[in-house]
Amino acid sequence: MAPIGSDILYVQRLLEAGSIVAIPTETVYGLAGNAYDETSVLKIFRTKRRPSFDPLIVHASGLQQIQGFVKPLPSKALKLARRFWPGPLTLVLEKKSTIPDIVTAGLPSVGVRVPQHVLTLQLLRRLDFPLAAPSANPFGYISPTTPQHVQDQLGIHIPYILDGGACAVGVESTIVGFDAEQPILYRLGGVSLEAIERTVGPVKVVHQANNHPQAPGMLTSHYAPKNPLILGKLPELLAAYATQQVGVLAFQQYRLGVVHNRQVVLSRTGNLEEAAQKLFAALRTLDTLPVEIILAELVPSIGIGRAINDRLKKAATCRVRC
Ligand code: TXA
Ligand code: MG
Repeated sequence: MAPIGSDILYVQRLLEAGSIVAIPTETVYGLAGNAYDETSVLKIFRTKRRPSFDPLIVHASGLQQIQGFVKPLPSKALKLARRFWPGPLTLVLEKKSTIPDIVTAGLPSVGVRVPQHVLTLQLLRRLDFPLAAPSANPFGYISPTTPQHVQDQLGIHIPYILDGGACAVGVESTIVGFDAEQPILYRLGGVSLEAIERTVGPVKVVHQANNHPQAPGMLTSHYAPKNPLILGKLPELLAAYATQQVGVLAFQQYRLGVVHNRQVVLSRTGNLEEAAQKLFAALRTLDTLPVEIILAELVPSIGIGRAINDRLKKAATCRVRC
């Protein structure tokens, strides 16, 4: 098992020696390595069992460091960076050759962000390289939002987990790229579509393809629990699956007629930020219950609710391991 602690100096030495380490961010925990070092990046792909066509996000301490490894930003990208960094926004930008092709799966662009987490920002400022870091889960499973989630699945493969507590946002970053000056949203996440549009005007939303991604990384196979998850209206689902052992993922209310400890409620007060923060831990909890099926309902599709619904739909679509 990996030690869990807050020794930044030790983590710095591990990363400088080419090791990979789990780090906290405000969205989810990342599995980090030196983004300039192919061997470190290869370790990330191997440890996650991630296909080499799925590009990684590079984390940096600020806009200044990022400008060292990407070409000049489109003006709307600069606006978004100034408005939302540090924060849960990834910008897809043209890379310089300092970023090895393995990081971007051969794409000429790289996803970059400045995470909003005090420990990880301190770490990034101490390093003289940025950190490539995908979510610290085995490929295809739910992203980790606590050190223990990382420990449960990757603990035996990594030398250290930097403990930053439970992630404050709880869903991954919003990903925005550009076609000239046209912003394109590739993944809903911690920064709402509404907030992006308030900053740079209308955004084109690209729906992610399932089997034949138009671009590497556009896969829908993430976030899947092992127990089958069915989405719909809970009263109807509960009637339809009345003869089965069910777990319930509800937005605001516990359901009568289902054992209380087989249910998780995301926010009693209907707060979407709270629901996002609890979502992945809830899915993991439901996955450990002795149930045949998980029944879940969508949340209101506004603000971060869109990202919650996106993850629920992805969790529900993946019936076969993919
Ligand atoms: O919140 C987050 O973004 C977390 C934390 C650790 O920062 N990271 C994360 O990484 O979610 P990951 O590897 O699980 O998801 C990265 C996704 C890829 O699957 C792909 O969809 C997209 O980012 N991506 C990365 N680089 C890209 C590029 N050059 N073009 C298009 N999409 C890209
Ligand atoms: Mg991921």
